[in-house]
Amino acid sequence: MGLAIQVSDVAKTYPSSAGDFVALDGLSLGIADGEFVAVVGRSGSGKTTLLNLLAGIDRPTSGTVWVAGADLGTLSESGLAAWRGRNVGLVFQFFQLLPTLTVVENVMLPMDFAKTIPVSERRDQAQNLLERVGVGDQADKLPSTLSGGQQQRAAIARALANNPPLLLADEPTGNLDSGPRRPGVVRRPECRRADHRGGDS
Ligand SMILES: Nc1ncnc2c1ncn2[C@@H]1O[C@H](COP(=O)(O)OP(=O)(O)OP(=O)(O)O)[C@@H](O)[C@H]1O
Ligand SMILES: [Mg+2]
Repeated sequence: MGLAIQVSDVAKTYPSSAGDFVALDGLSLGIADGEFVAVVGRSGSGKTTLLNLLAGIDRPTSGTVWVAGADLGTLSESGLAAWRGRNVGLVFQFFQLLPTLTVVENVMLPMDFAKTIPVSERRDQAQNLLERVGVGDQADKLPSTLSGGQQQRAAIARALANNPPLLLADEPTGNLDSGPRRPGVVRRPECRRADHRGGDS
């Protein structure tokens, strides 16, 4: 089974007025295609820092990060954005839904960027994803009018918009109720597995 993620000897240092702060130091890990991995650690231990590196949102201070067939260190900013649009679904710790778009428009946004789903199908597909995570009835509202858990569900639907091979989620169930629907919210049985067609620019 191939590796979807390979992190080799990665360090991440943040400069600060009190001197450099080392958030990650000598981190190596491999995650196989189809694996479901939870990263657990105390607050401030570097979980979000790691996810940002895996999503190509931030770059390591040293070391290499291979994700879904690409060495992220070799990609330009625009190359990274294109790679991310095709390969990664992201659920941010604080959702980051765009406040001026309705919930269903937020879910359609990654489809508009990636352009892999025909325009005429995007709204229906977004609505289906919202139904799947239990907030279909919230589709036409603005995010600020949803509860925290509903916003988190909408953010999960948005992350699934392009059926990405890799789903990265930062504390994705922290705001969800613990009712019987909860396990279904993050399970994604029909997702494609990460492929390894090689990097792109
Ligand atoms: N942009 C930044 N500038 C300086 N220091 C940062 C920055 N981002 C994170 N840090 C520091 O790096 C460390 C790791 O932060 P990170 O957000 O990755 O932690 P976390 O494990 O996700 O925590 P939490 O569970 O609270 O979300 C923390 O000590 C934090 O203060
Ligand atoms: Mg965090």
